[in-house]
Amino acid sequence: MNKITILKCISCTKEFSPQELDYTCPDCGPMRGTLEVLYDYDRVAKELTRDALTSNRDFSHWRYLPVLPIENERFIQPLAVGWTPTYENSTMAEKLGLKNLWVKDDGRNPSASYKDRASSVAVVKALEKSALIITAASTGNAASSLAAFTALAGLKTIIFVPHDAPKAKLTQLLLFGAKVLRVNGTYDDAFDLCCVAAEKWGWYNRSTAINPYLGEGKKTGAFEICEQLNWQVPDYVFVAVGDGCIYQSLWKGFKEFHQIGLIDRTPKIIGVQAEGAAPLVQAFIAGKEITEPVETNTFADSIAVGVPRDQVKALKAVRESGGKFIAVSDAEIKNAISELAGNAGVLAEPAGATGMAGLTKMANNSEIKSYETAVVLVTGNGLKDIDGVMKASTSQAVLVKNDIENIGEICRDLIH
Ligand SMILES: Cc1ncc(COP(=O)(O)O)c(C=O)c1O
Ligand SMILES: [Zn+2]
Repeated sequence: MNKITILKCISCTKEFSPQELDYTCPDCGPMRGTLEVLYDYDRVAKELTRDALTSNRDFSHWRYLPVLPIENERFIQPLAVGWTPTYENSTMAEKLGLKNLWVKDDGRNPSASYKDRASSVAVVKALEKSALIITAASTGNAASSLAAFTALAGLKTIIFVPHDAPKAKLTQLLLFGAKVLRVNGTYDDAFDLCCVAAEKWGWYNRSTAINPYLGEGKKTGAFEICEQLNWQVPDYVFVAVGDGCIYQSLWKGFKEFHQIGLIDRTPKIIGVQAEGAAPLVQAFIAGKEITEPVETNTFADSIAVGVPRDQVKALKAVRESGGKFIAVSDAEIKNAISELAGNAGVLAEPAGATGMAGLTKMANNSEIKSYETAVVLVTGNGLKDIDGVMKASTSQAVLVKNDIENIGEICRDLIH
């Protein structure tokens, strides 16, 4: 029996069977016609109870299998994804005047970003379809994550990245064995090229939004927040936004847990973009359902997206969740990197710290009440982009002589 009941077009609501279609609604096209994956929620509610979850010893995101689109569990690759730590941080909560603040560190995933939640699912779907070649366009993390899983699965992997993708992400890709194509253009150019190539040569396409299964993996972050906070849903969740796929998936996750009765309310999700790449913020403020393309300019490479591919779902989700999209400057992102590192011991790449920058901005503008709680999702590890992260550091290593007297002089204020 198939677990997924239907794939439903987000715009025209036409329904398809998963055997019929892999990507987007033919009538509405790739941007408006992204598909929603729906299940038999009566069955899910019976299988996914609080008791069942409490006694489940699988501490990975596969603990949510009853509501994941996996038909053949044999294809699941043995890399531990999800169940990332969610740390309470009273120092930062106090500084910002919040009741409670948690930092969920998704840099702890196998390839060090949130994207592992999606790639782990995409590889299973590719194997279920007997694909031999899988492709993706990516700012870097989705690709390096995909390549980690295909290294195990034995799929050939062809990756399209912008020419200036950070070195660590390229290094991951090369060592995991992907064929890496650095496109002389932006991420948006790489995306279009990848889709044309996938269609022309029949490669399985793991590019964001057009593949409906990626969001299914990404929604598991929401499930974990519910469980890890002992079913006390926070008032806010803050997350960085590029294409909008993580954003809309988190909302789907909270909505599903609400629908099956595991939680009694849903949080407001705040999607945070960099000022230099904020088409969703602009569309949200203007009350539009579609964004205008922008030229990007931010050091947060992972969210340097001018044409968000999951924009229709993301803009629908933001209105349903009662949250909003906001923009922060690169300076605010640098400050957030430093705050997370200095107060939580979590080193985030620029996009990984962008959610924190959003929370800081809203708290400083008194938009959050002292009795409210927030979770900040750190979506990528700082070692992914060390040049970017170094820009957040205000101090420097001190060059010393190999001489104890010199150490004494330099550390004068620390020696009593
Ligand atoms: C570290 C990091 N944070 C946030 C995002 C944004 O995710 P989305 O493009 O789904 O909005 C990305 C996407 O590449 C990312 O790599
Ligand atoms: Zn449609």
